[in-house]
Amino acid sequence: MAHVALGWQDRIDGYVRQTGFPRSLFVAGDGRVVGTWIMGNDYRVKSSYYGGYPAGYLRRVRALFPDKRRVLHLFSGKVDLAACPGDTVDFNPALNPTYLDDAQSLAAVPLHRYDLVLADPPYSVEDCEHYGTSMVKRNRVMRALAGLPAGAHVVWLDQVLPMYRKDTFTVEAVIGMVKSTNHRFRVVTIFRR
Ligand SMILES: C[S@@+](CC[C@H](N)C(=O)[O-])C[C@H]1O[C@@H](n2cnc3c(N)ncnc32)[C@H](O)[C@@H]1O
Repeated sequence: MAHVALGWQDRIDGYVRQTGFPRSLFVAGDGRVVGTWIMGNDYRVKSSYYGGYPAGYLRRVRALFPDKRRVLHLFSGKVDLAACPGDTVDFNPALNPTYLDDAQSLAAVPLHRYDLVLADPPYSVEDCEHYGTSMVKRNRVMRALAGLPAGAHVVWLDQVLPMYRKDTFTVEAVIGMVKSTNHRFRVVTIFRR
């Protein structure tokens, strides 16, 4: 059977059905998806790892991409693989990732095998101190991700839009993410290879 690519309206409708969360993502006039995720009261990090994904984040992303078969968690930390199964990449050997590698080169990672990447880099030098790493050059990570197959998506959670090449990636969605008082606002940028 021919594989039919899901359009963004299908993804959003599926997300609402699957999660039961209110409809807060919209296809804008220019075809891009815009919206906001309000994480509500359930913003705790299940693993309690510093900077870990808030509860519900992975379920939301997974619901947007029911068609994806091979997921790669980049800057994986202690990601909850029960909520979103996949392979992992981290610099820290104590976390026992699938690939112990620098996200800025990804030399050990067979990127052609993956159709969805979730990236959660440290946002600042202060954050890096918690992990014992130096600040990531986001443009180098995006350059390394050029090895993904055409049609793959990258879901990048950050406080800035990483620099990327427009002949390699298209920004398809920009979703603001709000936790609660005194938490930083973040943005989920979704790129298509
Ligand atoms: C914000 S945390 C990710 C947390 C994860 N989303 C979770 O739910 O547990 C960032 C992770 O990036 C890793 N890291 C930092 N610099 C890296 C690099 N250059 N390459 C790969 N991993 C790196 C750190 O070890 C840390 O585990």
